[in-house]
Amino acid sequence: MNPGTGDNSKKAAPHLHWQAPAGALISAVPPMEIRTAKLDDAQAIAALAIELGYAADEAVMRARLQAILGRPDQHIVVGVADGVVAGWLQASTSDVLESGFRAEIVGLIVSAAYRRRGLGRRLVESAVAWAGTTGAKAVSVRSNVVRGESHSFYPALGFEPVKTQAVYRKRLSSL
Ligand SMILES: CC(C)(COP(=O)(O)OP(=O)(O)OC[C@H]1O[C@@H](n2cnc3c(N)ncnc32)[C@H](O)[C@@H]1OP(=O)(O)O)[C@@H](O)C(=O)NCCC(=O)NCCS
Repeated sequence: MNPGTGDNSKKAAPHLHWQAPAGALISAVPPMEIRTAKLDDAQAIAALAIELGYAADEAVMRARLQAILGRPDQHIVVGVADGVVAGWLQASTSDVLESGFRAEIVGLIVSAAYRRRGLGRRLVESAVAWAGTTGAKAVSVRSNVVRGESHSFYPALGFEPVKTQAVYRKRLSSL
């Protein structure tokens, strides 16, 4: 039984408990939280970007965040689980001649150790809610074909496949 709750249906991990003053053992599993990113998240955001395969370090990420945090066309949130920044999402809006005003998820990662706990879903839900406030009529996302899990994830959240594209790039500098 979980003392204090009368609930004997769930057993929480022992390391996630503390002893309350009255002696009752109460579950201390911190809830997942989605919150706006801040500059001090730069290191965690960079580490997750590296996990995804992008070159990034804290200083670079801090500078990028500094340039766009607070802008009305940007939605940058982190997902915190067990007190750790375990995921982040960036969405943005833009005016496109071909398709008009639109919202797009341009970056999303949940650390491998925290997947399948609903964090990705909650990050995307926050982007969808934000996009709705901007006047966008839809939210798009492009995901590399090699990211197998994302191609199960987005359909599970109601995103429909629209098209498949090739991506081209012409470098403008040696950086
Ligand atoms: C895609 C990603 C963000 C999903 O994050 P997550 O926190 O694990 O996702 P959730 O736990 O919220 O999953 C929501 C639902 O999506 C589906 N889903 C997620 N991962 C899946 C997987 N590997 N296989 C099958 N379905 C999956 C499931 O229906 C899941 O619900 P369920 O767990 O109740 O069955 C995460 O796997 C990730 O960061 N991958 C690498 C980076 C990436 O692909 N980013 C997206 C590029 S734009």
